This record gives sequence, structure tokens and C-alpha cells, in this order.
Amino acid sequence: MLTFLFPLAALAGAVTAKSSSTAENVSACCSKLSETYPDQLVYAGEERFKDWNDRWAASAELPASCIFRPLTADDVSLAIKIIAKGAGQGCHDFCPFSIKCGGHTPWPGANNVDSGVAIDLGYMNQTVVADDKTSVTIGGGTRWHDAYESTDGDGIAFLGGRCPSTGVGGLTTGGGYSWFSGEHGFVSDTVINFEVVLGSGKVVNANKDTNADLFKALKGGSNNFGVVTHIEIAAFPHSQQVYGGLVIVPESSSDNVLAEFQHFTNDSTGFAANAGLTVEYFLPAEGEGQILLWLIDTDAEDDHATLQTFFDMEPKIVNQVYQTSIADYPTSIPPVTQVLMADVTFENDLDVIKAAFDITMEVRKTLSHVPNLVWDFQFEPLPRHFLKASQAAGGNVMGLDDVDKDLLILFLMPLWEDPEYDSDVRDAAELWFHKIQEYTQSVGKAHPFEFANYAASFQDPMGSYGAENLQFLKDVSHRYDPGQLFQRAVEGYKL
Ligand SMILES: Cc1cc2nc3c(=O)[nH]c(=O)nc-3n(C[C@H](O)[C@H](O)[C@H](O)COP(=O)(O)OP(=O)(O)OC[C@H]3O[C@@H](n4cnc5c(N)ncnc54)[C@H](O)[C@@H]3O)c2cc1C
Ligand SMILES: *[C@@H]1O[C@H](CO)[C@@H](O)[C@H](O)[C@H]1NC(C)=O
Ligand SMILES: *[C@@H]1O[C@H](CO)[C@@H](O)[C@H](O)[C@H]1NC(C)=O
Ligand SMILES: *[C@@H]1O[C@H](CO)[C@@H](O)[C@H](O)[C@H]1NC(C)=O
Repeated sequence: MLTFLFPLAALAGAVTAKSSSTAENVSACCSKLSETYPDQLVYAGEERFKDWNDRWAASAELPASCIFRPLTADDVSLAIKIIAKGAGQGCHDFCPFSIKCGGHTPWPGANNVDSGVAIDLGYMNQTVVADDKTSVTIGGGTRWHDAYESTDGDGIAFLGGRCPSTGVGGLTTGGGYSWFSGEHGFVSDTVINFEVVLGSGKVVNANKDTNADLFKALKGGSNNFGVVTHIEIAAFPHSQQVYGGLVIVPESSSDNVLAEFQHFTNDSTGFAANAGLTVEYFLPAEGEGQILLWLIDTDAEDDHATLQTFFDMEPKIVNQVYQTSIADYPTSIPPVTQVLMADVTFENDLDVIKAAFDITMEVRKTLSHVPNLVWDFQFEPLPRHFLKASQAAGGNVMGLDDVDKDLLILFLMPLWEDPEYDSDVRDAAELWFHKIQEYTQSVGKAHPFEFANYAASFQDPMGSYGAENLQFLKDVSHRYDPGQLFQRAVEGYKL
């Protein structure tokens, strides 16, 4: 679970010996970085700071002391050496820091740091296609849209985020759910090589032959081991055309949608692995809710039979289904203010889906006082063909190796405006999480998996991978980060 490293520093106005020494370290880190990289460092209060500190969710923005934008792995290496040293010489001197790629994790602290050094990898945004076109190497700070756009016309596809503005670094190290996952598993399963800056500042590669334990650990192990500076991902020939988009139906179609979702997620129906579906409930405080059906056939030439029921659903509020390029697939989500994500996994059973839906609607009632609350939640399939493709790819650390059942992820994402209600929404999400787990366990349909990419700060995705995987992650952490910098100085889903 989360460890708050500097509880005293966080207390407003509490000037203690500890907080002032933290400030001393941080000011040393910022000024050392600024000396070497005057154009790549911005201090709080400078004009560019607000722009550089921008996040998808305003809730994730914290008052960092300075923001550093490295251009190369060597820049990151030097920054980590500076951060690990702080103002002093001892091993307990360091600067609290954060690592940001796309900045899409909404909880405060995941990609930003109050009174610390914020590393923003956004300038490491190049995508290079290998000469033989069997892989792409992407900078650790790239957003997926830029990777898709810069390979548009190359006749290849590779796994990546479904929302264009999410980041390569965070999404991949958190596992990564792609529209191609039905055929190839998680995004992390398709990684060929990670280039990583360790806590010592050393730049290493991790792949199946070199540092293979670190390679495995990074496939789901998030920011626990180092700063990932480049990721080489497998690519395959593809027309780069897909068919799909968005169908929106009214909330009143819910029963039908849930039944069809369950049917779609049942691998025994023989549904095509190239078909993708996310069912998103978007329920505003006032007025009728909507159900967004995100649909895609990654083979544009296919007959799309697996998705036909969804294309045909009536009545429709929106119908935007067409052939499009991967780079233009329309799943952008505009910036938001307050947002929380949480997720649970369970078996694909219609009674369980309905009961989980009912629990989700019950919990919403506890927040009827929150102005303009949008109660958003999404069902995402994890059918056997997805899990088998993942297993066949050689293994990650997420604890899904032996699963031979169709699963699904239920992902809660409430949106609201006033930070005054943050703790109310958080409490509701925590209640929701425990109620769903309790219920699915009581009917024997639970699965412990907590997908890191949608996890709330109160969740423990690393622990959800199982005792053996968690121990493996801890061992790898001690082997590659003996000073435990990535456990002590950067927040995230810690080990
Ligand atoms: C609108 C929306 C759509 C989404 N769609 C998908 C989807 O299709 N598939 C999916 O799997 N998830 C999806 N997510 C979830 C998303 O993957 C996670 O929020 C993910 O963490 C985002 O990565 P990021 O780089 O944008 O975020 P960040 O917040 O920048 O990073 C996430 C975490 O990873 C760490 N990190 C980032 N880069 C690095 C690096 N280079 N080295 C080491 N650590 C790093 C950060 O410190 C942070 O803790 C979506 C989220 C949103 C909001
Ligand atoms: C910061 O610096 C001071 C003095 O240089 C030191 O005593 C302290 O332990 C350091 N570490 C942190 C994490 O604040
Ligand atoms: C990509 O990085 C370069 C520096 O390497 C920077 O100038 C540019 O603005 C970045 N592009 C995006 C979209 O962030
Ligand atoms: C899945 O589909 C098969 C074949 O149609 C059916 O026999 C089975 O009962 C379904 N299972 C579930 C859990 O829906």
C-alpha cells in the first residue's frame, strides 16, 4: 500500500526539522539540475510552470518545487543520481520525486509531487520503427497518439493505449489494455526490451536474455524499479485500418446491454478475438443516463459479425461507426477536474454482473449531495482468448498465468468538480470496492486481480498479483535498487 514518505512536510504550516531538511534537499536537487539543464528545468512560480505542471485531471496537479524534462536516458541518469543524493552525503538524503509520462493517473502523487522534483518525460517522445518493421522503439514519455501518428503509413500495428493522450511509460508498466489485446494479450506482454534508469543512475536494458527478472517485473510492476526511458514493442503488418467507433444507447437499454456484454465476454461463443468492446455507463446527476458502447474490429475487412448486435441496438442516441485509421480512432476524453478510478475483477456471469451493477447504483446514492457528479463506470472483457494470448507471450507478473475462466474488469470512474467532495467520493469508491469484493467472494466468483492502470490509491494492485509474485517483485526491487530509492522517494503502488 501507499506509504506517505513525508507526513510532517504535508502538514500545512508545520515547520519542523524534518520538513525543513526535506526542503533543503529539494532545493539542492533543483539547483543542481538547473545548473546543468537551464532550459529543461522550471521552478514553481516561473511563467512556464503552470503549463508544464498540467495534468489530464486537475486533481493530480500538485505544487512541485521544480519540474525537470530530460531529453535522453543520460539526462535521467544524472537526475536520479542528484535525487538520490539530495543535499547531503548519506544514504538517507534524497529528494522526493515523481515520474510522469502521459499523466493520466488521477490520484494526487501518482505522477506529481508536493514540494519535490517532478520528472516529466514528455520530451522523450520519439517513435522509431525498426528497419525490418517488426518492432517500434518508443520514448518513455510518449503519448500513444504520437506513436500512432508517427507510424501512420508504415503498414504496421502494435499494442498500445485506447485513449490517445495516455502515456506509453505508465500504461505499459501497469500492464496495458489495448484494442489488440484479444489477439495478443496485455501491452506489456508484447514488449521486447525496456531501457531503464535504476536507482544507482545506471542505464540498463531488460529483455528475455538480459536482466530477465527485471524484464518480467516491469510487466505490471509499475514505477517500482526505475525510470523507463525507452520501450521496444513488437509490431506486425497491418492495414492500419480499423472499423468501429461509438454507439450510445439510453440507460433504459441497460438489461439488454449487460446480457450482450456477458455473451460477448463468453469465450465459448467463438467470438472473434479481433473484436473489442467497452461498455461505459455515463450517468450525470440530472437527466437520463447514457451507455457508451466503444466498439472496434481491428480487422477492417472482417464482417464484424461479433459486434453486429451492438451496431444494431435500438434506440440509439449516437451512431458513429465507420472505418478509420488507428491514429484517428475517436476515443479522446477531454480534460477533467476531479476524477477517481478504482477497479475490481470477477468472473463473467450474468447474475454476478447484474448484482455488481446494482451495488454500483446503490453506492451512487451515498453521493447524491455532490453537485454535478457524473457516475461513470465501465465493463471491460478479459475473456479466455485474451488471457491465453497473454500467457503464450511468455509471462508477466500480474498473476493471471493459470486463469482459465472468462473474467471482466469493472472500472469505476466518477467525475465531479468541487475538491470539497474529494473525500466523500473516495469513501464511496472504497465502499464500492469492498462491497463488490465481498459479494463476488460470497458467490465464489471473485478474482483478486486489481488492474494497476485503473486502481485507486487505496488499492493494492501489486499485492493482488498474489504472494509469490509480490515476493518476486520485492526480490527484484532489492536486487536492482539496493538503496530502495524507488520505494522511499517516489509514490505509486509500492511493494
Ligand atoms: C481516459 C483514459 C483512458 C484510458 N485508457 C486505457 C487503456 O486503453 N488501456 C489501459 O491499459 N489503461 C487505460 N487507462 C489507464 C491508464 O493506462 C493509466 O492511467 C496509466 O497509468 C496511464 O499512464 P500515463 O503514462 O498516461 O500516466 P502517468 O500518470 O504519467 O503514469 C502512471 C504511473 O506510471 C509511472 N510511470 C509513467 N511513466 C513511467 C516511466 N517511463 N517509467 C517508470 N514509471 C513510469 C508514473 O510514475 C505513475 O505512477 C486510461 C485512463 C484514462 C484516464
Ligand atoms: C535532507 O538533508 C538533510 C541535511 O542535509 C538530512 O539530514 C536529511 O535526512 C535529508 N533527507 C531527507 C529525506 O529529508
Ligand atoms: C517532443 O519532444 C520535443 C523535444 O524532444 C519537444 O520539443 C516537443 O514539444 C515534444 N512534443 C510533444 C507533443 O510533447
Ligand atoms: C458460454 O457459452 C456457451 C456456448 O454458447 C454456453 O454453453 C455457456 O453456458 C456459456 N457460459 C456462460 C458462463 O455464459
